[in-house]
Amino acid sequence: MTAPLEARSLSLVRDGNAVLDNVSFSVAQGEIFALLGGNGAGKSSTLLTFLGFLQPSAGEVLVRGRSVHSDIPAARSAIAYLPEAASLYGHMSAYENLEYFLDLAGRSASRGDLDAAFERVALADEARSRRLQSYSKGMRQKAAIALALLRETPILLLDEPTSGLDPVAIDEFHDLVKKLASSGQTILMVTHDVYGACQVADRVGLLRRGKLVGSFAAEPGMRIDTETVHAAFAEREAA
Ligand SMILES: Nc1ncnc2c1ncn2[C@@H]1O[C@H](COP(=O)(O)OP(=O)(O)OP(=O)(O)O)[C@@H](O)[C@H]1O
Ligand SMILES: [Mg+2]
Repeated sequence: MTAPLEARSLSLVRDGNAVLDNVSFSVAQGEIFALLGGNGAGKSSTLLTFLGFLQPSAGEVLVRGRSVHSDIPAARSAIAYLPEAASLYGHMSAYENLEYFLDLAGRSASRGDLDAAFERVALADEARSRRLQSYSKGMRQKAAIALALLRETPILLLDEPTSGLDPVAIDEFHDLVKKLASSGQTILMVTHDVYGACQVADRVGLLRRGKLVGSFAAEPGMRIDTETVHAAFAEREAA
């Protein structure tokens, strides 16, 4: 079966600097793949390449078996993307923001659909009609996640999705991501949070200075071992 996401020997240069070097991986349908790496490792750049915002200097990225750069609109319509710093409008309510951005994406949603999405991310009822400028960071992140869910795309790209969320909200978010994957959505998330990656992902790829240097898969019914991945991340030998 064709993988929904695939990077084939992907190299990327930004402003004359090599940012990704010969990176290959694929994400199967219904799989959660976490790309883990330190600041500047190339995680966000990888996502932007799948969205067609950055052009590979060598190799290619494929969405549903098709080279992204041969049909960028097709790739984008299959993907919902949660950016690193999601920017919704402060002067609008969560409802208005979601209606507005869904409209831009060529979709519409009923009040019931919006409520269901807010429910899934546990954004409190009383907050939904308040302007976003009165939200905490975590509440804004929840609204942005709700928007990504409402796109109902087969693929989700998540850039540091739990940044700004408290530990309870992080657990809830991980449960939600697992549910989405088990209902068939394909998920690529990038993060520098070793614990979060190991908790939620079926497979973790370790990205170091633009190179994919390790891969860890969960055994059936088990989570990936945080200690092992942490040691690899920190370039130490696993105990
Ligand atoms: N807009 C840009 N123009 C030029 N180079 C950039 C740009 N954004 C990032 N880079 C460079 O690309 C490299 C990878 O950055 P990227 O943002 O992909 O890393 P990251 O793994 O997402 O890091 P972080 O954990 O800090 O978000 C870095 O060397 C960075 O300096
Ligand atoms: Mg980043």
